[in-house]
Amino acid sequence: MNEEQRLENTQVKSADKKSEKDYSKYFQTVYMPPSLKDAKARGKETVAYHKDFAISEEFRGMGQGRKFYIRTYGCQMNEHDTEVMAGIFLALGYEPTNTVEDANVILLNTCAIRENAENKVFGELGHLKPLKQRNPDVLIGVCGCMSQEESVVNKILQKHHHVDMIFGTHNIHRLPNILNEAYLSKEMVIEVWSKEGDVIENLPKVRKGEIKAWVNIMYGCDKFCTYCIVPYTRGKERSRRPEDIIQEVRHLAAQGYKEITLLGQNVNAYGKDFEDIKYGLGDLMDEIRKVDVARIRFTTSHPRDFDDHLIEVLAKGGNLVDHIHLPVQSGSSDVLKIMARKYTREQYLELVRKIKEAIPTASLTTDIIVGFPNETEEQFEETISLYKEVGFDSAYTFIYSPREGTPAAKMQDNVPMEVKKARLQRLNAVVNEFSAQKMQEYVGQVVEVLVEGESKNNPDVLAGYTAKSKLVNFRGPKSATGQLVKVKITAAKTWSLNGEMVEEAAEVK
Ligand code: 5AD
Ligand code: SF4
Repeated sequence: MNEEQRLENTQVKSADKKSEKDYSKYFQTVYMPPSLKDAKARGKETVAYHKDFAISEEFRGMGQGRKFYIRTYGCQMNEHDTEVMAGIFLALGYEPTNTVEDANVILLNTCAIRENAENKVFGELGHLKPLKQRNPDVLIGVCGCMSQEESVVNKILQKHHHVDMIFGTHNIHRLPNILNEAYLSKEMVIEVWSKEGDVIENLPKVRKGEIKAWVNIMYGCDKFCTYCIVPYTRGKERSRRPEDIIQEVRHLAAQGYKEITLLGQNVNAYGKDFEDIKYGLGDLMDEIRKVDVARIRFTTSHPRDFDDHLIEVLAKGGNLVDHIHLPVQSGSSDVLKIMARKYTREQYLELVRKIKEAIPTASLTTDIIVGFPNETEEQFEETISLYKEVGFDSAYTFIYSPREGTPAAKMQDNVPMEVKKARLQRLNAVVNEFSAQKMQEYVGQVVEVLVEGESKNNPDVLAGYTAKSKLVNFRGPKSATGQLVKVKITAAKTWSLNGEMVEEAAEVK
């Protein structure tokens, strides 16, 4: 179903639902609550591409004299969605502000990946209540992944009446209509399409910086790992057309951006949904590497779809960085099977071997979940041994968090929380040890750093990242900001490097 069909069907669809009765007493206006069941269904309908996004005449000037504030939780996809929403606000005439007290519209762009991410948002909603009481005209909105969950929308309806708008990840381009509805209505405005939206091009964007930029290459995820809420909150996989992506990258390069990160929940599935062309991530990277931009990355990869062609293209180097984030989740084939990751420990190790063979300088980072339901001590130890065998540079590590509506949430779990916490600590000790060791290897080396500006803790020190995403702090002229400079590493910490800027370098690592 594409956007037009969906808008036509709205009334019928919501009337079909039993749950509607629960909601109807709270509001009468825009009504589209989320449904995990609908979100799970993968439609055969072709995704429609819209290239004609424009702010409709009736909404122009809506933001005159008004300010917006967006707080973003979660991943880079959310950060980038915030850039799009900020772009829409500016196009409507709003001004940005960085304090909630000063804002006329406050949006929380939320993350649903783990329970603690959700708790933070509910905490923040509680904090905003007195502000809304002092200033009833301020509009408060919840968007992002949490708004795609029925349980969250129910909880907001019951406990957070000061929320004015809830809209989903597929409804961002409808922000002008949703704001308009919220100004007109005293009721809570809810618009969450559980089935994915179309691909909307030409959305306005206000990028966070002038050095690094994100570019969406695809939306959604069809992998349905059993622990993960993303396929429900972000919809089915749908790829942007290569020409639109390449044009955006070229435009960013012309604007002076130095680093571009291609974004998708499962970037290795890029292009699988095209019916008219055979074109994958390897083909896309092979085109984009020809664009005059210093660094190109992509995130996040799924090992299952990481094909030989992509490895071959990445091995061409140049502006394609030799750092690959390759989430493994577990080192046990049995756990991977129950997670529905669709690869074994051996297959993962074989992929790593192929990558290292083709790109000998490649550094790998990963994501790991400990304490998946019924994970045994032996299975956990397989994760530790895989970590050591691969020799990851670093990892994001998590305790498994049950997500309502996912298959894993229904599994009996015999692993007590204390055991999960202890496993996380044990894993983190290994991660830290490896990170410190990898960092130590840089001492005395000269690295290329993309300077982002003053360091967080000391305005006299500059900070930037290497191609392998290592944070480097060093003394140098402020004019180096936004430039690639050579820095000799003098000391290593667990998570960062210290160095001195050098003019000329014989060898750059
Ligand atoms: N519990 C814990 N961690 C999770 N992740 C995804 N879902 C869950 C969950 N239910 C982790 C995975 C993923 C990363 C973005 O978040 O490791 O790669
Ligand atoms: Fe979630 Fe990533 Fe698995 Fe997709 S591939 S279901 S986003 S963990």
